Amino acid sequence: MRAVVYHGPGQKAWEEVPMPVVIDTTDAIVRVDAVTICGTDLHILKGDVPAVTDGRILGHEAVGTVESVGSGVKNVAVGDRVLVSCITACGACRYCREGSYGQCIGGGGWILGHKIDGTQAEYVRVPFAETSTHPVPDGVTDEQLLMMADILPTGYEVGVLNGHVQPGDVVAVVGAGPIGLSAIMGSRLYSPSHVVAIDLADSRLEAAKQFGADVVVNNGREDALAVVRDLTGGLGADVAIEAVGVPATFELATALARPGGHIANIGVHGQPATLHLEDLWIRNVTITTGLVDTYSTPTLLRLAQGHQVDAGRFVTHRFTLDQFDEAYDVFARAGDTGALKVVLTRG
Ligand SMILES: NC(=O)c1ccc[n+]([C@@H]2O[C@H](COP(=O)([O-])OP(=O)(O)OC[C@H]3O[C@@H](n4cnc5c(N)ncnc54)[C@H](O)[C@@H]3O)[C@@H](O)[C@H]2O)c1
Ligand SMILES: [Zn+2]
Ligand SMILES: [Zn+2]
Repeated sequence: MRAVVYHGPGQKAWEEVPMPVVIDTTDAIVRVDAVTICGTDLHILKGDVPAVTDGRILGHEAVGTVESVGSGVKNVAVGDRVLVSCITACGACRYCREGSYGQCIGGGGWILGHKIDGTQAEYVRVPFAETSTHPVPDGVTDEQLLMMADILPTGYEVGVLNGHVQPGDVVAVVGAGPIGLSAIMGSRLYSPSHVVAIDLADSRLEAAKQFGADVVVNNGREDALAVVRDLTGGLGADVAIEAVGVPATFELATALARPGGHIANIGVHGQPATLHLEDLWIRNVTITTGLVDTYSTPTLLRLAQGHQVDAGRFVTHRFTLDQFDEAYDVFARAGDTGALKVVLTRG
């Protein structure tokens, strides 16, 4: 079969590799029908994720058809169509028992396309198949499903739910990439009074309007703090969500929140950011941060089925699996191409 194989920073190839086989009794081998590329894959290609080593197949999001299962797999059968989640869950460890699958210490967590071979391939081995896949529900397309593997649960859990978005809130979202847009879409479920999207790219701010932002701020030209203070009688946002991952945006998010407000960091940070405790200590704020667990995936699937969440909206470009090079190029040049999410399917 063929797969996207990582060969060190800046190097990857769609090349011939051996077919995956069942190793553990809880494994499933899934034929990949549709797959996408994540911003995290671009981080890996820049060399930012050293745990990913030469020879690793990339990818942690897919929809597919079960090809074979280990002897211990009872609830997933050959021929089933499944969503492969970005987070693998052993289902038995302390964290999994609490729904914190991202923190799994029983062999799961974020492992696909990271510590073991991933989904950007014709076939993938999925460990702990029963607790790491979701059955494909009726009435939801593969494109919609793919958005449930990572970006929608991330924006919803780490942004909206950790940030405690409530009806009537003013929600400020810093960064309007796929993750920030997911947080905007998820915030809308709670009837906020205003969602303010803040980004440096006008193309992303245009997208933010489509996804439900009613105020957009280009913080390269405008003062985001002044806009949010104007909207809130000088107080600040009830919830500030950080969806970029650089020190300046974390510091902006903490400044945007009102006293008593919530700051939900989603961004993956590679550099230390300053926590301005000299300003914040007196403001009764709550700061949260974390890795997605994907405990909300079943909820999001029902919302997609009921048309309350339009997950397919993210998909801007479509390719076949043998066009992975082109798909990566289009996704990596999002500023020029307007790409939000690209989807690759069997030809
Ligand atoms: N916590 C988790 O579990 C988790 C999961 C997935 C992704 N992430 C992280 O979420 C972050 C966002 O992911 P994405 O795929 O949307 O990334 P992206 O790069 O597509 O989007 C980031 C956006 O931030 C904007 N931006 C950059 N600098 C800015 C600044 N100074 N002010 C305002 N806007 C600025 C960019 O223009 C872009 O639109 C990344 O750090 C990613 O690694 C976290
Ligand atoms: Zn991802
Ligand atoms: Zn576990």
